[in-house]
Amino acid sequence: MAHLWSGRFEGDPDAKLFEFGASFRFDRRLFEDDVRGSLAWAEALEHAGVLTASDSAAIARGLHEIHAAGKDPSFFQSAAAAQDEDVHAFVERELVQRVGDAGRRLHTGRSRNEQVAVDLRLYLKRQVPALQRSIVALIGVLLDQAERAGDALMPSYTHMRRAQPILAAHFFLAHASALRRDHARFAHVLTEIDELPLGSGAIAGTSYAINVPRLAKRLGFAGVVRNSIDATGERDFVSTFLHACALSMVHVSRLAEDLILFTSEEFGFLELADTAATGSSLMPQKKNPDPLELVRGKTGRVIGRLTGWLATMKGLPVGYNKDLQEDKEATFDAEDTVQTSLDATAAVLRGIGLNRATTLKASSGLLLATDVADYLVAKGVPFRDAHAIVGALVRSLLKAGRSFDDLSVDEWRAQSPHFDADVVQAITPAASVERKRTPQSTHPDAVSTALAEARQWAAENAN
Ligand code: ARG
Repeated sequence: MAHLWSGRFEGDPDAKLFEFGASFRFDRRLFEDDVRGSLAWAEALEHAGVLTASDSAAIARGLHEIHAAGKDPSFFQSAAAAQDEDVHAFVERELVQRVGDAGRRLHTGRSRNEQVAVDLRLYLKRQVPALQRSIVALIGVLLDQAERAGDALMPSYTHMRRAQPILAAHFFLAHASALRRDHARFAHVLTEIDELPLGSGAIAGTSYAINVPRLAKRLGFAGVVRNSIDATGERDFVSTFLHACALSMVHVSRLAEDLILFTSEEFGFLELADTAATGSSLMPQKKNPDPLELVRGKTGRVIGRLTGWLATMKGLPVGYNKDLQEDKEATFDAEDTVQTSLDATAAVLRGIGLNRATTLKASSGLLLATDVADYLVAKGVPFRDAHAIVGALVRSLLKAGRSFDDLSVDEWRAQSPHFDADVVQAITPAASVERKRTPQSTHPDAVSTALAEARQWAAENAN
C-alpha cells in the first residue's frame, strides 16, 4: 500500500502501528478546510511560476469535485480500503485519482506540518463563531428570565448562607456577565489564530517564491506567522481555545449548580419544567435535574482536555512532533461538549419558573441585619458600634425564635435610643434594594439599566 512517504521504505509499515498513528478517524472533520487550503496553495504555486495554468486549473477542478462529493458521508468510506493515514492523504489521493499528474504536483514546497496547522486554524475560524452564537443565545435566555422576574426579590448568598436581599433579575444578570467575558475570550481566540502558517514548509520555510501575504489574504488571515520553526511546532491557539472552553464550562456549571439548588425542595425558589427533568425508576415522587447535572459533570472533562493538552506540550522539543496530532481530539471534544452544554443549559433555563412568594419570604428576616446597621449609621452611630448593637439584637432574636419584622417600636428602642418609628418601613427587602446606590448594585434602576445595556449587547452580537 502506497503512503505519502512510502518511497523511503522497503515494504509496508506494521499494520497495527500504522493504525495507531493514523488520524483520519477524527481529522476528516478538517476535510473542508484541507480542500480550501489546497485550492489556495495551488493558486499560489501557479503565481510563483511553479505550476502551469492548466495544472492549476485541473487541480482546482478536482478539488471542487472532491468538495462536492464530501457532502455525502459515504464518500469518506474509500479511505479505509486505501489506508489513508489522515485527511491530507485522503484529499491528495482522491485528487490524483481525478486529475493524475497535476494532482501529484500539488504538494510541491508544502508539508503536512504546516498544512495541519493551517487546517486547524481555518476550522476554528469557522467554528468559534458558532460557539459564540450559543453563548449569546444562553445570555438571551438569562435576560428573558431577568425581564420576567421584574421586581421580584430573592435572597443572595455568600458562603451559601443568606446574605442580603437582591432582585431576582440581578441574579440572572450575574450569570450573563460571566458569559459575556467568555464571548470576549473566544473573540481573542479568533485574533490569535488569525495568522497564516503556510510558507513554513516542514520547518525551515519553502524554496518556492510563494507570495505569502497574498496567500494569507486569499484565505482570510489578517497576517502571516513570524517564524517557520515556531509555526509548525506550536499550538498555543489550541491551548487558548481550550482555556476559553474550560472557563465557559466553569460558568455554565456554576449556573447549573445554582439552578439545581434553587429548584430543590429545600429552596423551592425556582421550578423546573417537566420537559427538562427526569424521573426515578424507583422513587415515584422524584423530579431530577439530569441535564444540569450532566453539564456540571462534563465540565471536569473539558478542564481535563485543557490540562491534558498542556501536559502534552510541555516536554516537546521545538519544531513539529507527532505528539501535536493529539490537538484535534482535544479540540473537537471540547468544542462539542461546550456547544451541547450551552444549548442544553439554555433549553432548561427557558422553562424555569420563579416562585415569587417563596423568594420574597426568604428575603425577609435576619438577612436585613446590614440594613438595620445602616439605619443606625444614618442616625450618627459609628458603623462598628452599629454592627455590635445589631449583632446582639440578632442573637436575642434567634434565641426567641423571632425576627426584625415582629419587633414593636418600643422593642426597637430598647436596643438603642436611635431607633425611631420609621424603622418599621426601613427594614424590608424592598427598601433594602432601593437603598443601594452604585451602578453595579441591585437597585431596581441600576438593574433595569444593566438589562437594557445587556439587551443592546446581545442584539449587536447576535448573528
Ligand atoms: N496527522 C498529522 C497531525 O495531525 C498531520 C501532520 C503529520 N506530519 C508528519 N510529519 N507526520 O499532526
